[in-house]
Amino acid sequence: MTGPEGQPIPLNGPVAVPPKDEGKPGSVLDAVEGGPLAGAVSGIVQGLTAKQKKISPRYFYDSAGSSLFERITQLPEYYLTRSENAVVERTVDAIVRQVAPQEVLELGTGSSKKIRQILDACSQTELPRYTAFDIDRGAVTTAVETIGQAYPGIDARGVVGDFEKHLSLLPQSPGRRLVVFFGSIIGNLDPWPRRRFLANVRTLLGPRDRFLLGVDLKKEPHVLEAAYNDAEGIIAEFNRNILNVVNRLVDANFDPGAFRHQAIWNEDDGRIEMYLIAETRQEILLGAGGVTITVEPGETIWTESSYKFTRRGAQGMLEEAKMRLDAWHTDTMFGLALAAPDGS
Ligand SMILES: C[S@@+](CC[C@H](N)C(=O)[O-])C[C@H]1O[C@@H](n2cnc3c(N)ncnc32)[C@H](O)[C@@H]1O
Repeated sequence: MTGPEGQPIPLNGPVAVPPKDEGKPGSVLDAVEGGPLAGAVSGIVQGLTAKQKKISPRYFYDSAGSSLFERITQLPEYYLTRSENAVVERTVDAIVRQVAPQEVLELGTGSSKKIRQILDACSQTELPRYTAFDIDRGAVTTAVETIGQAYPGIDARGVVGDFEKHLSLLPQSPGRRLVVFFGSIIGNLDPWPRRRFLANVRTLLGPRDRFLLGVDLKKEPHVLEAAYNDAEGIIAEFNRNILNVVNRLVDANFDPGAFRHQAIWNEDDGRIEMYLIAETRQEILLGAGGVTITVEPGETIWTESSYKFTRRGAQGMLEEAKMRLDAWHTDTMFGLALAAPDGS
């Protein structure tokens, strides 16, 4: 597989890695020493000193951001979580029968609520392990505790890491693995990092393992724009909270209240784009980077893209990563793809 200029896509580490620290039931391990945000300063400073200022969406999820995201999932306009839940509910028994997983590895765990449908359906099969993987330590810790308590027969453990960088550091699976990536989080990755991410997921799969991927589907722009511009303003609050995270990580002095939220549909690129727009001129000191930036009135900081997909597009990106679409389930709003490694 090659990248835009024909060069091979670099994976996020060697494929044949020695088994990593396995941890033990109930453990929460860091994928890398110091946690996934240890090297955040240079990336954040680079994004904020670019012509189009940008902050990566990975910084949305401190504990406040994760709580706000939970409120977003309840919003009447935000159909994504309800739709995905409904599709999972309808299809989970067939998926679990087909895969009979011995490990469920959940990437971007969040509240770990949706995964319970999978774990419930697995109760008839032999599932020794659930592994939660998220950049937010609180999310991983809560998932390990709550899943461990609710399913005493399951060995629940967690890894705090960045799924764009640390997948190759995951310990090997004890058996058939189902890698789950719910929430259309894949839509937050631009095409190039998305290819690299999927290539890395592929390295986690042996012949009997499967990848379950939730993708939000293309639909009428007014439905998409409403989903990201709720009347209550919770997504605006979620968007502005990223500045609190940046303030902590790079010792900056953003005033989140001086920015308003905007989410627009970009038809050409097939994505919702989320921005923070400055209300006033501001000088922001990025202390840890030793630089000051100026934000002009009306200037935007691009905080998130949410790409939307079609069945064909989802199949294409899986095939490019040497996976085969085994099953496709949808309610026409949201799609759930079950993928198998090529040649299995
Ligand atoms: C939109 S929420 C989805 C949560 C849940 N999977 C769901 O479907 O409701 C995204 C989750 O992915 C995590 N996340 C975002 N970027 C990440 C990254 N680069 N590496 C690991 N986790 C990440 C966030 O912390 C958050 O818990």
